[in-house]
Amino acid sequence: MKVAVLGVGGMGGGIIKTLQKIPSVTEVFAYDVDTERVREREQSLGATGVTELERILENRDIPLVFVTAANFAHKELTIASLEAGKAVMCEKPMALTLEDARAMVETAERLGTFFQVGFELRYSKLYTKVMEWIEEGLLGEVINTTCLYTSSAWRKSASWRLKAAPGGSMMGEKLSHYVDLPRWWVGSEVTECYAACAPNMVPYMEIHDNYHLTYKFASGAVSHLTYLQGHPATFRGDPLQPAEAQQIGDGHELRYIVVGTKGAAECDVFLRAIKRWDCPMDPEEGLLSNLVENLTWDPSEGHFYFHNTTDQTIDIVRRVEAGEPPATPARDAYNSMRLCFAADVSVDENRIVQLSELE
Ligand SMILES: NC(=O)c1ccc[n+]([C@@H]2O[C@H](COP(=O)([O-])OP(=O)(O)OC[C@H]3O[C@@H](n4cnc5c(N)ncnc54)[C@H](O)[C@@H]3O)[C@@H](O)[C@H]2O)c1
Repeated sequence: MKVAVLGVGGMGGGIIKTLQKIPSVTEVFAYDVDTERVREREQSLGATGVTELERILENRDIPLVFVTAANFAHKELTIASLEAGKAVMCEKPMALTLEDARAMVETAERLGTFFQVGFELRYSKLYTKVMEWIEEGLLGEVINTTCLYTSSAWRKSASWRLKAAPGGSMMGEKLSHYVDLPRWWVGSEVTECYAACAPNMVPYMEIHDNYHLTYKFASGAVSHLTYLQGHPATFRGDPLQPAEAQQIGDGHELRYIVVGTKGAAECDVFLRAIKRWDCPMDPEEGLLSNLVENLTWDPSEGHFYFHNTTDQTIDIVRRVEAGEPPATPARDAYNSMRLCFAADVSVDENRIVQLSELE
């Protein structure tokens, strides 16, 4: 199968490399508005460079495209590709406005075309392990989740990501991953949210560099996300950390606690830990907690336990070849995006936002 990658910066380059390792992929096309970049991808990765989008849209031998351009180009590239009859994988955030994201989903639904959004944490071996425990009933009904994510600041060189526009907000660009997971685990729709941001610690970021977001599900479950910059939890050179536990120079800490009616789980991607407790109710003593699983993994497998874009790419190619639907319907990804936009409305207007206000 021939596959095209639309937007071949950092993310697109990585997808090209993965596609080239898939035996059934016979040719990978690299398209970008930056013609220098297209040439570079031709020379260094052996992709077929294209500088006119029409050449991809009109080529009936290309059934699948990956939209990995900067966020502001997602809507236009996705809708044009869907209308040209292509299966589409589009990176998060789907679009810069909820209206645009909805237009993308509705186009795919109207045409009955494959459309999957790049929430690759649903392929992470770490987070799928938590999902396995939930599906096996080991945690009972998930009623609480909390995510603590801290990192040191993004560098000034981080280009469009620092800008209010056209990069979009931190909720969509980064934190959409971390609200998508609790939605998946809880398995119920979010009904309302409240979010607050403190003044920025990082003066050169036009977007908020911190979020405190609480959201409630129809099932009654509640999730919380705290995102902070300026807390270098695993900084380069920390004498107390083994080298592999450091996110070099980035200082990340990313921990989830998931509490169900029968047990609890905790996972920490940078400390390579997944734990599960049984929490039986003893008639005499009350609530007990027994650590029953305490797992880790080899540092060389880190990619597969975190942003597992490799298995996501392989799975999307396989699904399109087999005529199967996306692993997650685009409507579901849209609902994660809707929560991101609702969180930003909550910050801007300093109030609880009902998700039904944003259809
Ligand atoms: N899922 C993840 O974990 C993850 C990680 C990194 C990036 N991303 C996403 O991938 C996308 C790209 O990020 P990146 O890090 O590669 O950024 P980048 O700045 O390295 O590359 C973006 C590319 O898009 C190109 N572009 C801009 N407008 C275009 C258009 N109209 N048509 C074609 N190309 C166009 C630019 O020329 C550039 O080459 C973003 O949406 C980002 O959010 C996702």
